[in-house]
Amino acid sequence: MPRIDLPAATRNKIAPLLTARLADAIDMQARAKHAHWNITGSNFIALHELFDKVADHAENAADEIAERTRALGHDAQGLLPHAAKTTSLPTYKAKTGEDHLPALADSLAAFGKLLRAASDTADELDDANTADLFTALSRENDKLLWFLESHES
Ligand SMILES: [Fe+2]
Repeated sequence: MPRIDLPAATRNKIAPLLTARLADAIDMQARAKHAHWNITGSNFIALHELFDKVADHAENAADEIAERTRALGHDAQGLLPHAAKTTSLPTYKAKTGEDHLPALADSLAAFGKLLRAASDTADELDDANTADLFTALSRENDKLLWFLESHES
């Protein structure tokens, strides 16, 4: 039994929220690497490097979310098949090398919306620390989305 003072009833409601966003974060990291590897065009090197920053952000998000899940006494669902089955991100659509910028921006926008909603939900469930974690992640997500959109012509 974990010693944390948050009631089990709260932790049992927060854990599925964390698990859902962990799947999204794992999916988001894979998408950013996919875009990092396959991007083409005149802005190649800038986008190649920027997409790696998106991957780092998603990896950090996954790590923070998974460790918060453990701190609340629940298991972290870190396996790829689980993430693939449960991700809430929309289908990644890129037909050409240049499509990876809008495809990744669409994904990151969706991820940001989910993070912000998760913060609101955690707040409603009286878990200020989880709400704060999701707020911090969504703030970083907003910044990276701005970076991506600044490369769109
Ligand atoms: Fe690389």
